[in-house]
Amino acid sequence: MSAPAAFEGLTHEGIRTALSTRHLGRAFHLLEETDSTNTVAFAMAQAGAPHGAVVVAERQTAGRGRLGRSWYSPAGRNLYCSIILRFGGHSERVPFWLMWTPLISAVAAARAVQVTSGLRPALKWPNDIMIGSRKLGGLLCESTAGASGGFIVVGIGLNINIRPEEFPEELQQIATSMCAESGRSYDRAVLLAALLSELETRYDALLSDQPSHVLSEYAMKCSTLGRRVQVTLASGECVVGLAESLGPDGTLRVVREASPDGPQGPSVLTIRAGDVIHLR
Ligand code: BTN
Repeated sequence: MSAPAAFEGLTHEGIRTALSTRHLGRAFHLLEETDSTNTVAFAMAQAGAPHGAVVVAERQTAGRGRLGRSWYSPAGRNLYCSIILRFGGHSERVPFWLMWTPLISAVAAARAVQVTSGLRPALKWPNDIMIGSRKLGGLLCESTAGASGGFIVVGIGLNINIRPEEFPEELQQIATSMCAESGRSYDRAVLLAALLSELETRYDALLSDQPSHVLSEYAMKCSTLGRRVQVTLASGECVVGLAESLGPDGTLRVVREASPDGPQGPSVLTIRAGDVIHLR
């Protein structure tokens, strides 16, 4: 596979030209290198950065994933960005935003890949962006509802132009990229602009209170539903069962398989957070 030659570095001008949003990305910070765009964006949000401000980096030296994992972030190939979303002064709305933001962000990322490439990623609950059984991207949402007003930092990593042989060995069987799936390279500024546009549309829909639409859109893309899964819960407990449906708040309902020596408990579990493996 040939090197992605057409689109080299991200530039301020390239991003500005591609943007079509009203708020998201209208303030953006393009960094050559940082430890983690989420860490930078979180500090900026605490210091008062506006709704929609975005931090993008060409390379992360300590990219962070969910559940304390790291995120492989080599230079010049992929997209590493963090978006600051503010939910206004209504503290009673904070749980609403915390619940729905990861779901709309995952759908927005999958849609952005689809509209720019024709690839059709699926979502592994809660918000892994997958092509088949391989991971194309992921989301790390971090939030606070402190005195500086509530905000969420939505961190998104998407593997775009990295070639399969460039992944470290431990990722080669489990990760993929848009380039690996389609054999062509992509302009990362266009991807970023599509992502922000898809996210802004859904954020605006939530402002006017349309979570049922969000949920059905998420469910249509969620490849976990109907699968036999193993879920590792925050407590460390492991549950095996059928991922039956989504709750009205985006939780995952799993019908636990009976096991003679397994823990006793309700046979339908409502899972808020966990690490899911799709079983065969
Ligand atoms: C996961 O699937 O584990 C989540 C990965 C999130 C990675 C992105 S890259 C941009 C942002 N900055 C980080 O340090 N992490 C997120």
